[in-house]
Amino acid sequence: MSDVREVIARKRDGHALTEDEIRGLVLAYARGEVADEVAAAFLMAAFIRGLDTDETVALTRAMVDSGTTLPLEGVSRPKVDKHSTGGVADSVTLVFAPLAASLGLGVAKLSGRGLGHTGGTLDKLESIPGFRTELSGEEIERQVQDVGCAIAAQTKELVPADGKLYALRDATATVASLPLIAASVMCKKLAVGTDLILLDVKAGSGAFMKTPEDARQLAETCVGLAGRWGRACRAAVTDMSQPLGDSVGNALDIAEAIEVLRGERVGRLRDLVIEFAVAAQEVLLGSSAGDKRAGAERAISSGDALETFRRMVEAQGGDPRVVDDPSAILPSARVTIPIVSRSEGTLGAVDAEAIGQAAVELGAGRRRKEEAVDPAVGIVLRPKIGDTVGPDEEIGVVHARDRRAADRAVARVLDALALTDEPVEAPPLVYGWHDAG
Ligand code: URA
Repeated sequence: MSDVREVIARKRDGHALTEDEIRGLVLAYARGEVADEVAAAFLMAAFIRGLDTDETVALTRAMVDSGTTLPLEGVSRPKVDKHSTGGVADSVTLVFAPLAASLGLGVAKLSGRGLGHTGGTLDKLESIPGFRTELSGEEIERQVQDVGCAIAAQTKELVPADGKLYALRDATATVASLPLIAASVMCKKLAVGTDLILLDVKAGSGAFMKTPEDARQLAETCVGLAGRWGRACRAAVTDMSQPLGDSVGNALDIAEAIEVLRGERVGRLRDLVIEFAVAAQEVLLGSSAGDKRAGAERAISSGDALETFRRMVEAQGGDPRVVDDPSAILPSARVTIPIVSRSEGTLGAVDAEAIGQAAVELGAGRRRKEEAVDPAVGIVLRPKIGDTVGPDEEIGVVHARDRRAADRAVARVLDALALTDEPVEAPPLVYGWHDAG
């Protein structure tokens, strides 16, 4: 590799880098041979100047090659992985994994922790007493074969360059870059040997991509990368202009996911899970699956998906009684206060990022990677865009450690809601699908 400063200078000045230059820099950084400030300068240059397709492929390849892979050769089920680019009240994975498993698929899901205003599946699952997210590759493989799904932390050996670069991006305001996000998302998916990669690319106020057009470009870049690896991939651009479900926290999200799995809760979260279950069956089971939407709905109404969730919780050391009585098993906050609307009207817009930030401030998320989350705290907010809200109507609940924190969160949530006198149409759930393979 040329001198690393020369490589950075070339990117800074707007030149395209070669595969060798990018690979050399990324692998040397992963080995600890390049200092954080040097890698940070590269990231900022890439953030400002962008990366073309070949550079993005080279970055992705270098990240995949920085560690080991998880081929899942011992799993005979058709295998699917699903990833969200990050949102608020986004518990799709918690419902999708057991649902898809109960339909005969194998879901191997390596998840992340919450960072910034977006929640993390691992943090949510760890609110179930005993639940273990650190699984070895062999444990993941065995569980996917036996139970049908496993949701675990990315092992340290898998794409270590991504872990290091992601933390550095978070610290240097270089997260929201299309090629950097695409490479980061796809290296994790490409390192796991699944038959289908499903991507949920969020668009809106609670997402990194604020518009459907930016999200579409990210979706196309990701499926383009999958295509280069010869992997089947379907990416949906989905709405994140408001929290997807009602719960923004950790234990609260588990309780909500269980309600969906029990068939007791309808709405946008359930609808989006069904969309992904249909998409997965179309690719992996083809015509043999019959009516895929009806099949997915039946897996919920029959209790099969819930039973698979119970088996996953048990297999990972969690208390399976959470499925029967979530409120008795999950931690609860000391203080709960209602969120009462200040006026009446139709909900016209939501600053979903601000709601995510309010949950972080309560302790449900972390500002820095090393921080612990409080599993019990969070926000439940019921109205969706287009719903009418009465004066002084209770529209949700804040769960907090103390009254001051609760009052502040209530104010932040109410500030994040824009009511109008005009009728407002609900935004679409899915803006479009993009396919590779
Ligand atoms: N999710 C990821 O895995 N990586 C990013 O860079 C952003 C969201």
